[in-house]
Amino acid sequence: MLVLGIDLGTSAVKAVLVEGEAIVAEGLGPLSVSSPRPGWSEQAPADWLEAMRRAVAALGPRRADVAGISLSGQMHGAVMLDAQNAPVRDCILWNDSRAAAHCEVLEDRIPDIGMRAGVRPLPGFTAPKLLWLAEAEPEAHGRIASVMLPKDYLALWLTGEAGSDMSDAAGTLWLDQASRAWDPALAEASATDPAWLPPLRDGFAEVGKIRAERARELGLPTGIPLFAGGGDAATGALSVGAARPGACFISLGTSGQLLVVDAAYAPNPDEFVHAFAHTLPGLWYRMAAMLNGARPMAWFAGVLGMEVETMLAEAARADTSRVPLFLPYLTGERSPHGDPAIRAGFYGLEDATGRPEMARAVVEAMAFMMRDARDSFGAGFAPDGPIPVLGGGAQSDLVLGTLASVLGHPVARAEAGRGGPAYGAARLAQVGLGEISQSDLAFTPKLKKVFEPETPRLEPRLAQFRELYSRLRGGL
Ligand code: XUL
Repeated sequence: MLVLGIDLGTSAVKAVLVEGEAIVAEGLGPLSVSSPRPGWSEQAPADWLEAMRRAVAALGPRRADVAGISLSGQMHGAVMLDAQNAPVRDCILWNDSRAAAHCEVLEDRIPDIGMRAGVRPLPGFTAPKLLWLAEAEPEAHGRIASVMLPKDYLALWLTGEAGSDMSDAAGTLWLDQASRAWDPALAEASATDPAWLPPLRDGFAEVGKIRAERARELGLPTGIPLFAGGGDAATGALSVGAARPGACFISLGTSGQLLVVDAAYAPNPDEFVHAFAHTLPGLWYRMAAMLNGARPMAWFAGVLGMEVETMLAEAARADTSRVPLFLPYLTGERSPHGDPAIRAGFYGLEDATGRPEMARAVVEAMAFMMRDARDSFGAGFAPDGPIPVLGGGAQSDLVLGTLASVLGHPVARAEAGRGGPAYGAARLAQVGLGEISQSDLAFTPKLKKVFEPETPRLEPRLAQFRELYSRLRGGL
């Protein structure tokens, strides 16, 4: 049976056709992010549809044999629609920091919000964006008839049905994580009518059938079911088999995550750990979520006018006794600092500093950031065996070697991570169709290459990295 997984990412929509455990075709539709003002990050839902058309078309003729579809998506974005399902404005994305002041309002109104909603308010989450809109763009706010997450907009367009899954709902600050239901008080505290929120489902539950005209447009069979899917953290987890308590992994995409699956809701709001419902019933996860996963690498390569691989080859040649420090917080940071105002910067540049040393500082910073994430889970966090790593950042030996050294724990490039969240979504479609069961989603990923800790010289530099951040906390 062929299934289709579609991941609405930040830089592209990715589609994968999956048969059994194998990916048989892949397609990409690129996306860009607009930043009309400092700290703003937006995308037009119409651009997602265009990127999805391109990604699905690139799958080739076998897409006509698909039996079911499921979705994955960038989390936390506020898609606000009017009564005709037209966006009242562009989507405000997960890495937007305009609503910082509104987070304080929310925390004043609901002091225990971190315990209920799984994490303390930060501007990237959905709820404070609605408070911002009510104040800054009241006309648009007044036209809202429904609010949903980015991938749910694709589901609505494909099926005509509104619906979300637990894991994407978990990132809004409107979900009561323990009972896995919308919390009307949290919605009302953030200028949101609870009636605007979509019905909630498990990730493998059907949202609706693909409408005939949409199926024709995409070259898919008519009437096949669409299953709810999950936020990209949860579907990424499924791509590496993280569907049982104790399973953990690291993701280094545009954003970065360290995630461990739990059998019960385990909030730790003071460290800005996100304790969220998984897309599968009876499971939650704890996640340190960083806004600047492997993005600093792509950013610096772009600044240099180089491909990322070329920049990493330069970084590998650096004089390691003269590497400056880099703070990777290009868009502020969530875990563990909860600091929307901090920004990125190099420190310690000398006359002799060259491109290789600066590139190496960027690589080291990604590892330091992940070590801060690991430490925020506390001493009880002791994964057995190498931690699988997925995402663009995991393709580099230098990045993974540095990461293992800084964590003081082996990490591994995970084979199953290849399809990432889109693959995890496809597996949910297989559960929805009854081809496999929920327990089949828990597997130990094949590890392509394991990296052992090697470089003790990085320990003092970690201390300097932390000192530099603590002096700049909150920005200038
Ligand atoms: C998770 C998070 C990212 C985004 C973008 O909290 O913000 O996973 O979904 O990938």
